[in-house]
Amino acid sequence: MHPLDPLSADEITAAADTLRREQQLTDRWRFASIELREPSKETVKAFTPGDPITREAVVIGWDRDDGAVYKARVTLQPPAVTSWERQTEGQPNMTVDEFNECDAALRQDPRVIEALAQRGITDLDRVLIDTWAYGAHLVPERHRGGRIGWADVWYRKSPGASPYANPVTGLHFVVDLNRMELLEVEDTHRVDEPDTMGEYVPDLVPDLELRTDIKPLHIHQPDGPSFTLDGNALSWQKWSLRVGFNHREGLVIHTVGYDGRSVAHRLSFAEMVVPYRDPTTDHYRRTAFDIGEWGLGFLTTSLELGCDCLGEIRYLDAVMHNTKGEPYTIKNAICIHEEDDAILWKHVDARTGAEVRRSRRLVLSFHVTVANYEYLVYWRFYQDGNIECEVRATGIMVTTHFAPGQQPPYGTLVDERTYAPFHQHFLVARLDLDVDGEANTVYATESEALPMGPDNPHGLALVQRNTPLRTEEDGKQDYDWNTQRAWKVVNDNVTNGLGTPVGYKLVPGAAFPPMMDPASPVMQRAEAIGHTLWVTPFDAEERWPCGEFVVQSERDRGLPVWTAQNRNIEDTDVVLWYVFGVHHITRPEEWPVMSVDTVSFWLKPVGFFDRNPGLDVPPS
Ligand code: CO
Repeated sequence: MHPLDPLSADEITAAADTLRREQQLTDRWRFASIELREPSKETVKAFTPGDPITREAVVIGWDRDDGAVYKARVTLQPPAVTSWERQTEGQPNMTVDEFNECDAALRQDPRVIEALAQRGITDLDRVLIDTWAYGAHLVPERHRGGRIGWADVWYRKSPGASPYANPVTGLHFVVDLNRMELLEVEDTHRVDEPDTMGEYVPDLVPDLELRTDIKPLHIHQPDGPSFTLDGNALSWQKWSLRVGFNHREGLVIHTVGYDGRSVAHRLSFAEMVVPYRDPTTDHYRRTAFDIGEWGLGFLTTSLELGCDCLGEIRYLDAVMHNTKGEPYTIKNAICIHEEDDAILWKHVDARTGAEVRRSRRLVLSFHVTVANYEYLVYWRFYQDGNIECEVRATGIMVTTHFAPGQQPPYGTLVDERTYAPFHQHFLVARLDLDVDGEANTVYATESEALPMGPDNPHGLALVQRNTPLRTEEDGKQDYDWNTQRAWKVVNDNVTNGLGTPVGYKLVPGAAFPPMMDPASPVMQRAEAIGHTLWVTPFDAEERWPCGEFVVQSERDRGLPVWTAQNRNIEDTDVVLWYVFGVHHITRPEEWPVMSVDTVSFWLKPVGFFDRNPGLDVPPS
């Protein structure tokens, strides 16, 4: 076992049992999260296999009777609770148990049955009640202080049909999640049901003829893949890393090295903010924090060979838990495989002919289903030292019906009297790079065209300006198209063979501005999305850019609070928080199911090597 390995099922059970016993928790207690308390960088670096290790869990939960929220630390050998702290801000993450229990409870509530009957819906078995978390400012005043959810209603046209094909427009419920009790029925308006087609399963799509001209495509690696997976330690050609996983970030990539040199200590996604940009009654509460409110780990789904992953695959399972603290396994949660990636480099010489190398990449991926939506995450490692992080958004868009002649301007018409609201998916990647060691400085690197003059008579001169970011205030950076701004993480204490400092560049992709009034409640909760990049000095406790307790939050207690200290970020252990995603202006082609919308950013070596590190890739 390695100190960074995720908690096992036995460890989760032990942590829950220990806490239950020592704090005399009743069955009204819910476990929101149980995760490994990751060891310090020093511990990780000093570890050699066989060393005794101390395992610790961090547990967050609450009592449904008094609503009291606690965060605890539990050591596992010997089992003991070492800290137990009451939390006073916000609520713990929403849980899958609550989502399911709320759906079941509301479907039996007479007021719900009555409201649906008035819309002609009597088969409750076909109803899906979809519970969302709130921002504190939107919780009705009379319910403040409780653990409150609000719910949408969806309806399947036939037992096996898609619920997200049919919104029940203008009907929402407000729920006390601790008592699992309906507080309010909001019946704001009704719309005569349009004749739509929201099905995507072939049998349910009228007149669909599946293509017949696709021949098999097989990927064979007769000698197996070129990587080795030993527990959670992965090595492939010159790359080495460890695979981690937790309830909130999902896949975490630890201790990334190339040829024995350190590139990154930890890479993950720390928050996702999805504001719907539609102020109408059906949508104004739709501001999902899919990581802080729900957790990518809890929402990870099992992968299937031949469908999700093609080729010679190695899977890792993930162990999550329910709100009783009981562990369960997500089979095939993480996919690891190699891919052919066309050409790495090539040149054709008139005399000697072509010299060409095919590119091979190592891919780590996991898939998340957030109710109607899917996020597919791919971390790719290349033979020339590049790292690419790609996210694909797919699944089913939220839609809503409107009365004849009255389409609201906040979305795109995708079916008869049906529009899909515009929305944005902001992802915050937490990038703890350690380029040849921890002492790094981030430079904004920008191109500048010099004015014409005696030294520049043709107006061609272009120079590159590298500006060190010295404080957290400097570290608040925005994308600039005019200068092609990017950011280099440089170790000024280590030089390459050319005598220049070694570095890795964050090449921005899919960056876009929030386009939101700073006074708007969502921006207050998610100030983190206000910049493309934030840089902080490493602090193991600083993990969540919009705060630890995002459910029913009022303010962002993460990045804006930490960076208000304006700490030094020069020549120190830095963490980069990169904000990117999908500015989703919906299209008819994304209905009834959305093909992947793909966004990415890159980490590329700049002077980390003396020359192309892919020179040694052999010809195929
Ligand atoms: Co979208």
